[in-house]
Amino acid sequence: MHPKAGTILSLFRTEDRYISGEHLSRELGVSRTAVWKHISALRNAGYCIDAMPSRGYRLISSPDSIEIHEVRAYLDSSRIGAQLEYLKATTSTNADAFRLAEDGAIEGTVVLADSQTGGKGRRGRIWSSPAGVNLYCSVVLRPSVMPHEAPQLTFISAVAVARAIELTTKLTPEIKWPNDLLISGKKVAGLLNEMSAETDGINFVILGIGVNLNMTVNQFPDDLRQPATSLLLESGESVDRSRFTAIMLNELDRLYTDFLAHGFGPVREEWQQRCNANGRQVIVSDSGTDCTGGRFIGIDVDGALLLRSDDNVLHRITCGDVRVI
Ligand code: BTN
Repeated sequence: MHPKAGTILSLFRTEDRYISGEHLSRELGVSRTAVWKHISALRNAGYCIDAMPSRGYRLISSPDSIEIHEVRAYLDSSRIGAQLEYLKATTSTNADAFRLAEDGAIEGTVVLADSQTGGKGRRGRIWSSPAGVNLYCSVVLRPSVMPHEAPQLTFISAVAVARAIELTTKLTPEIKWPNDLLISGKKVAGLLNEMSAETDGINFVILGIGVNLNMTVNQFPDDLRQPATSLLLESGESVDRSRFTAIMLNELDRLYTDFLAHGFGPVREEWQQRCNANGRQVIVSDSGTDCTGGRFIGIDVDGALLLRSDDNVLHRITCGDVRVI
């Protein structure tokens, strides 16, 4: 896409109103005819742009695909997204980002894909990744923290996704420990953190983020372990994938910058407030057996769940399935 067309898109995004051809030609430093040509090119690329003789142009809708220039137009970050890779189809963006990081990719490198054939979920599960509907994204980070602190970064991505959902829809997501995002009790996003480390430090961390944006009922696999949903199914409105992607990356950037400056405290606080178990009684079961019950206290620095049982014992849980009573 021509850079001037990208600037027109950015202006549409920031103004969200009709913009006169005269104003656009002044902002772009080109003739009105050139503005009209860029508008035609955008229409040909799938953008629906209304034109009113007395008022100018207004963006009505964008194509339902992740457009890298669109993501860039919305990006307002200092690190995350410094390098953006977009793949129409891949095995797994986490595997791609891992390879890029091993080859020296800079911090903030992001790999996005329209579809994955081997999307990885936690505990060796498969992450269903059909084309044209969702967000599949992996981010390379190189924080100067110790390996045992790396799980803290997954909590950052959970909060970033929760904020992005709130900024783009009227929905209120909840976070379920360790890092599922739920809407009305159904899973809408999952996070997979992978790391390369030595005993005394981290080489890099890959934050893998999958969000079900516009997935429809028949696109979910039949053998789901837990109920799942998408933002479209919950809100009835389709989500602009490029905009969602950029907003999520912007929030990730803010949270990560804050994390580097002030540590885990602020993000832990927000994560706990957003957690579905906050202040509630829960039962954690491992392999189907109810094992520990108690009141949710919070999360430890290594991401472990902290529970206080009725006999006042503090339990640290590192794996299992949490059920709110
Ligand atoms: C889970 O809840 O089990 C974690 C799912 C993580 C899925 C994302 S999609 C983008 C990235 N690439 C992958 O292969 N997995 C993560």
